[in-house]
Amino acid sequence: MEFSIKQSSSDKQRTGCVVVGVYANGKLSAAAQILDVAMQHQLSDLIARGDMEGKVGQTLLLPHVAGCVAERVLLVGLGKSSAFAATQFVDVLRAVFAVLHKSNCKEAALYLTDLAVSDRDEAWKITQAVLVGAESAYRCDHLKSKPADAPILRKVLLACAEKPEAAAKATLAQAVAVAHGMQLTKDLGNLPGNICTPTYLAEQAKSLAKAYKLEVDVLEEKDMEKLGMHSLLSVTRGSRQPAKLITLAYHGGEKKQKPIVLVGKGITFDSGGISLKPGAEMDEMKYDMCGAASVLGTMRAIAEMGLKLNVVVVIPTCENMPDGQASKPGDIVTSMSGQSIEILNTDAEGRLVLCDALTYAARFEPSTVIDVATLTGACVIALGHVATGLFSNQDDLAQELLAAGQYTQDRAWQMPLWEEYQPLLDSNFADMQNIGGRAGGSITAACFLSRFTKEYRWAHLDIAGTAWKSGKDKGATGRPVPLLTQYLMQQAK
Ligand code: BES
Ligand code: MN
Ligand code: ZN
Repeated sequence: MEFSIKQSSSDKQRTGCVVVGVYANGKLSAAAQILDVAMQHQLSDLIARGDMEGKVGQTLLLPHVAGCVAERVLLVGLGKSSAFAATQFVDVLRAVFAVLHKSNCKEAALYLTDLAVSDRDEAWKITQAVLVGAESAYRCDHLKSKPADAPILRKVLLACAEKPEAAAKATLAQAVAVAHGMQLTKDLGNLPGNICTPTYLAEQAKSLAKAYKLEVDVLEEKDMEKLGMHSLLSVTRGSRQPAKLITLAYHGGEKKQKPIVLVGKGITFDSGGISLKPGAEMDEMKYDMCGAASVLGTMRAIAEMGLKLNVVVVIPTCENMPDGQASKPGDIVTSMSGQSIEILNTDAEGRLVLCDALTYAARFEPSTVIDVATLTGACVIALGHVATGLFSNQDDLAQELLAAGQYTQDRAWQMPLWEEYQPLLDSNFADMQNIGGRAGGSITAACFLSRFTKEYRWAHLDIAGTAWKSGKDKGATGRPVPLLTQYLMQQAK
């Protein structure tokens, strides 16, 4: 889907469909009023008749209306004019794109980004229009023998009453970059484990590097052996697929500027290993690389934007499989940091790969490290599918990430990392054990990681509940790419 932004009057725009808003009190938006005059008040008449109440997201598609140069008019309800909130604006956009996709229009002009939304600026409205539009057009059916036809709607104009400033055009380009990043994240997440292997992820990183002139480095198992990454390597022992440690570096900032390092969990399939998972919905463990997919998507977005910042992505990736060679409960391994770990449950593998990647991250002398992982089922129990779990050893970093999530509607919620939880990881035989029991499972997982991140500013995002949807709409969500890109854009300022 192609997006553009320009000044345009709703009564003069030749397009497949002009989309204008109507408030719940029967009041027309400015663009709707202009159209109403050109259409000899047909809009106010139909509102007076009660055909359009203006409830949030209510739609009415009018084909071939006399007096309108566009082929169709789509009215969309905006609710009460006094408090048009961010979530309602998104609901309106979703409703609009759903109707447009059902119609036969190839192009549409949306007169919506001029509407006042409480606590949100123009950049936000433009970005949401692009992200919701891109989301509505997303398909992942290329593995079907007969994929559905591509969406008919190809061009979307964000129409403004005044000539848009250069900043608005730049925002549009940035939003498109975020949409591309999310698309990559979704595509990788949705791929099955037999296609999206660690080797496949490494190839993806290499092609990103080629396309955006990034520096790429892929460590093989023998390299990891030399570095002493025995914790990471313990996870891949049961797999026939070779593990990889992928590094991608983007140099958008000044040479001496310390990079922000994003670490993404890349378990391309998590069977649980010898601590095998139950069969129900085990297929969803193909999504256990969504942390990796989201940091790659974020990298793609910021590289396309040309953000003035240095960012490094580190991805520990392997499969977690049961086998005669696989790690067993009770096995003890020594991590790259030198700390020993008793593996009491081979299904708590995410932290085992992340801890070595986090130790490795220190070599980039980072200003900040953020890891992203589908780490615990307990996080889903705590926060459901709405908020990402956020943990940090620095409160100002936590606040910045929370704000980025709030602004982009890709929200996170801070969880505690208090000392009181640490003893739950005590082991009789090693420096720590890899599980802390059922209580506070996402917190003890974060506590485990915190033991490897003492030297730098660090935050951990547990995206187990937010990276994908289950059931009828099963699929990767592209989260937390909006949160991460927003955070990075703030840092580049
Ligand atoms: N990848 C899973 C976490 C997960 C589970 C994400 C369900 C999304 C949905 C992780 O590797 C895992 O298995 N964690 C265990 C940890 C436990 C053994 C301490 C879990 O959450 O059950
Ligand atoms: Mn697991
Ligand atoms: Zn896992």
